[in-house]
Amino acid sequence: MTPSITAGLAFLAASFSVGLARSVSRSDLRASYDYVIVGGGASGLTVANRLSEDADVTVLVIEAGPFDEGEDFITIPGLGGGGFGSRYDWNISLARNDLLGIPVQACPQGKAVGGTTVINLMAFDRGSRSDYDRWERLGLPGWNWETLLKYFKKAKTISPPQPDIAKEYNITVDHSVHGFKGYIQSTYAPFYWPTTRNIVDAFLELGIHIPADSGNGDAYGGYFTPQNRHPVTAARVSARDAYYETARDRPNFHILTDTLVTRLLTKGKSGSISISGVEVSSLRCLRTGTVTADKEVILAGGAIRTPQLLQVSGIGDPALLERFDIPVVVDLPAVGHNFHDHLHVPLLVDHNASLVPSNLTTNATYAAESRELYDRERAGPYTSVGADFLGFLPLRTISNSSTTSALQQAAAAQDVTEFLGDNTPAAVVRGYKAMYKVLTERLPAPDSAVIELISADRQLVVSLQQPYSRGSVRINSSSMEDTPIADSRVLHNPLDVEILVEGIRWARTLIETEALAELQTREVLPGANVTSDRDLAAFVLEAGRSAYHLAGSCTMGPKERGGVVDAQLKVYGVTNLRIVDASVMPLLPASHPQATVFGVAEMAADIIRGRI
Ligand SMILES: Cc1cc2nc3c(=O)[nH]c(=O)nc-3n(C[C@H](O)[C@H](O)[C@H](O)COP(=O)(O)OP(=O)(O)OC[C@H]3O[C@@H](n4cnc5c(N)ncnc54)[C@H](O)[C@@H]3O)c2cc1C
Ligand SMILES: *[C@@H]1O[C@H](CO)[C@@H](O)[C@H](O)[C@H]1NC(C)=O
Ligand SMILES: *[C@@H]1O[C@H](CO)[C@@H](O)[C@H](O)[C@H]1NC(C)=O
Ligand SMILES: *[C@@H]1O[C@H](CO)[C@@H](O)[C@H](O)[C@H]1NC(C)=O
Ligand SMILES: *[C@@H]1O[C@H](CO)[C@@H](O)[C@H](O)[C@H]1NC(C)=O
Ligand SMILES: *[C@@H]1O[C@H](CO)[C@@H](O)[C@H](O)[C@H]1NC(C)=O
Ligand SMILES: *[C@@H]1O[C@H](CO)[C@@H](O)[C@H](O)[C@H]1NC(C)=O
Ligand SMILES: *[C@@H]1O[C@H](CO)[C@@H](O)[C@H](O)[C@H]1NC(C)=O
Ligand SMILES: *[C@@H]1O[C@H](CO)[C@@H](O)[C@H](O)[C@H]1NC(C)=O
Repeated sequence: MTPSITAGLAFLAASFSVGLARSVSRSDLRASYDYVIVGGGASGLTVANRLSEDADVTVLVIEAGPFDEGEDFITIPGLGGGGFGSRYDWNISLARNDLLGIPVQACPQGKAVGGTTVINLMAFDRGSRSDYDRWERLGLPGWNWETLLKYFKKAKTISPPQPDIAKEYNITVDHSVHGFKGYIQSTYAPFYWPTTRNIVDAFLELGIHIPADSGNGDAYGGYFTPQNRHPVTAARVSARDAYYETARDRPNFHILTDTLVTRLLTKGKSGSISISGVEVSSLRCLRTGTVTADKEVILAGGAIRTPQLLQVSGIGDPALLERFDIPVVVDLPAVGHNFHDHLHVPLLVDHNASLVPSNLTTNATYAAESRELYDRERAGPYTSVGADFLGFLPLRTISNSSTTSALQQAAAAQDVTEFLGDNTPAAVVRGYKAMYKVLTERLPAPDSAVIELISADRQLVVSLQQPYSRGSVRINSSSMEDTPIADSRVLHNPLDVEILVEGIRWARTLIETEALAELQTREVLPGANVTSDRDLAAFVLEAGRSAYHLAGSCTMGPKERGGVVDAQLKVYGVTNLRIVDASVMPLLPASHPQATVFGVAEMAADIIRGRI
């Protein structure tokens, strides 16, 4: 241990009086750990918990944000969204996208122990079997549904819906596809807004597949989604609740909060580069220090910060690094590429339903009564996140066969590289070609969704699930204190717009069902007079907004096909550096991503422990 490290750590120990009460006690803080994990969010806490099960292994998590204080906007599902712009949010924006009506969009990103799971909207679902099997087809042995299912199960404990909800909506739970010993409590809301009945009936009327339990790999059609919530208190269960609180008493598990990892410390020569530790900066007192990693550094900062940290540390595209005078440590141009996202296009509707979530904000009496009910019985409107039945629709469900095959032919005829950004590295282009092939083959598949449909209050949100567009995350300075340019280039490939237009047309079919006509549902925006492909495409561009399902920017894959990490999640060209967060997903599943992030992180922990 060098004196400078000791000095650095002494300041850290002294400066975290609040965090210390729950994390590292002053005398406990070590100068080195076997594993140093950057980021205490969904993936980081999962891996930390599992690695620290081995009592002879020491683990440190370094998290930029603080512990939350159990604020109502974090714990109460009906107040979801209340954490955006709070002190638990990085409060950053995505890059300008000139195609969209709103060129710059704020992007909530959790900055707390628990990461984005502290402020997200709690849908806890999985994609379809084929969404994961295609990862393996991209050259990733073992990354398939069968294997991941074990880890999806390991991560969670399912509880059935309350009997009245189960009976009214005929919700069945297939015990063979859920876990019962996992740390994340997951169950269904105890209160469904009455319009849920109409939307379910509308799906039934159209003969849409409703799987017995969408966790079984048939995650298409329409389904009731569980959330990460406690079965008794109905409150949110964050990654902190699940994976930190259950491990915090282990003497070999430490967490350092309010501390930014500013750089990876590398050593060795090209070909045998390793990471000796990390440089950190206190966000409370503007001082810096270092921590040594004896075995590995594990990156879990999320799809924006992880590629940024690699780049500021000299791992990335030499042309980009040179612009910011960063010495190249590992020439790995793929870092930051393959960044993609889901895109929401909200149709505004009106209807005469007498009870909807916005009553909580427009009627103070109703809100007060509902709050009292929540506090007293953990029941009623505030237990709901507002959307419990979600549509995940294959193209052939929303489109007729001629449009489906026309879209597939258009995709097959497209110049694959035409809509990629300038200067996309050759390896990334090769990887994208492989993805493109898989996406296009699966386009007409009956068992894999391309559009999500969310009915929420006065919106029908049509959401793109299998984007063809790809962008990148690139640094805009050499400092982790600055925001990188995170640009998914969503909708740059016109196929994405065309698929969304089909989604809008299908939403209109839904509006015309008897079940929605009963509520006198009518479209307000874009308005029923907007019908041509061109006008609907213009609406998609005007109204499209990030779904905040950021992924893929340090993708897992063969190096010659744009991989940043291999199938063991190791960064190419570095001996002891892994990535375990949402950035490693090669292709987002058609679902909300967090359950997949937790499953991947559970699997990552077993890989690191040499168990698979
Ligand atoms: C508004 C919103 C709503 C969402 N709703 C849902 C939903 O309903 N269902 C769903 O499945 N998914 C949802 N998601 C997505 C889901 O929350 C993420 O996919 C998931 O949390 C990603 O996990 P992660 O481990 O990659 O990153 P995160 O959970 O974001 O964790 C990253 C952590 O690393 C820390 N960190 C980063 N860089 C550094 C650094 N240099 N030094 C120290 N610490 C660092 C961050 O502060 C953060 O705590 C939502 C996301 C958003 C933004
Ligand atoms: C986040 O940004 C918004 C808009 O720029 C601002 O109003 C708000 O104060 C910021 N919040 C924090 C915690 O910095
Ligand atoms: C209830 O769901 C089960 C399982 O999906 C299904 O077999 C059954 O037909 C459904 N019953 C009704 C009345 O819809
Ligand atoms: C809820 O809002 C609707 C209008 O959207 C209104 O007709 C109804 O009276 C409201 N109900 C309550 C309880 O506030
Ligand atoms: C507001 O809510 C109260 C309590 O539910 C209800 O009695 C009242 O009619 C509602 N007001 C309106 C305008 O709907
Ligand atoms: C198929 O749907 C498209 C709209 O996507 C429509 O223009 C076309 O007329 C339909 N074709 C048939 C054969 O129904
Ligand atoms: C990038 O940095 C420059 C110089 O600091 C700044 O002017 C610009 O706004 C930044 N761009 C983005 C997208 O943040
Ligand atoms: C909504 O409109 C339908 C059809 O006109 C009507 O039967 C129903 O009673 C109305 N509901 C409310 C709450 O006004
Ligand atoms: C649809 O109607 C609205 C309101 O009347 C009008 O502003 C808009 O231009 C129309 N759009 C089209 C494509 O006709």
